[in-house]
Amino acid sequence: MKRLEGKTALVTGASRGIGKSIAMMLASEGAKVAVNYASNDAAAKDVKAEIDKLGGDCLLLKANLGDARAARSMVKQAAEHYGHLDILVNNAGITKDSLLPRMTDEQWVDVIQVNLNGCFFCTSAAIPFMTKQGYGRIVNISSMNGQIAAMGQANYSASKGGMIAFTRTAATELARYGITVNTVAPGYTETDMFAAVPPAIQAQIKSRIPLARFAHPEEIAKAVIFLVADGDYITGEQINVNGGAYEV
Ligand SMILES: NC(=O)c1ccc[n+]([C@@H]2O[C@H](COP(=O)([O-])OP(=O)(O)OC[C@H]3O[C@@H](n4cnc5c(N)ncnc54)[C@H](OP(=O)(O)O)[C@@H]3O)[C@@H](O)[C@H]2O)c1
Repeated sequence: MKRLEGKTALVTGASRGIGKSIAMMLASEGAKVAVNYASNDAAAKDVKAEIDKLGGDCLLLKANLGDARAARSMVKQAAEHYGHLDILVNNAGITKDSLLPRMTDEQWVDVIQVNLNGCFFCTSAAIPFMTKQGYGRIVNISSMNGQIAAMGQANYSASKGGMIAFTRTAATELARYGITVNTVAPGYTETDMFAAVPPAIQAQIKSRIPLARFAHPEEIAKAVIFLVADGDYITGEQINVNGGAYEV
């Protein structure tokens, strides 16, 4: 029997990158997986096709998490479709980089709205289902840049640092219902998001990573799987998957 047989999961932002790897790995461990995404229908359909090929069960749910009503209704749809919701991975995230003197209100608000508020909207919508079940596994995908200074990313690092603080309080409040809440904090990972970083900056960053390379999305997914499959007594914790780069 696979480790997550009988479990259902929702992964936000799972049409590409880290979210896709998490969804695929959850499916290969036997979970039924709802895959949320914002707009890229073709990429989302590819994820579903890959999960179907594994013999898994995948539900595609297009919704903008920056819209509270859409985010909440998407979570409800996932839970009602499967009849229960055991695992929520708050993975969707965006960047809108700018040095502070030039950062606009829009850049600030958009990033906080999707990354941090979206995490709240989905968690909050999942809580009634998980408390009723007396079981839930929530994993929030933060970032190393939520813990250290990240030039040009005041909005992003505030959102990711906020997710870490949110995780600790949520873990404490929800433990009594059998719900664990943890953070996985990736370092620089080879996805479309990181591909947007100029090559010269990428080279600079790589030279300061002790393991001397960027992460593969699967390496982030493995930490998530550990928490949801084997981490029953772990809550409020943070796993850094960053190649040792605590000060890049
Ligand atoms: N890559 C890195 O180096 C790195 C490092 C640390 C942390 N992280 C974090 O890891 C997570 C995944 O990053 P990634 O690199 O895999 O990103 P990515 O390749 O840019 O993929 C982003 C995913 O999020 C979805 N998304 C974007 N905005 C959304 C919204 N408003 N509502 C719903 N879904 C939305 C996208 O959907 P569409 O395909 O429809 O656009 C896509 O599935 C993010 O939270 C990111 O901050 C990444």
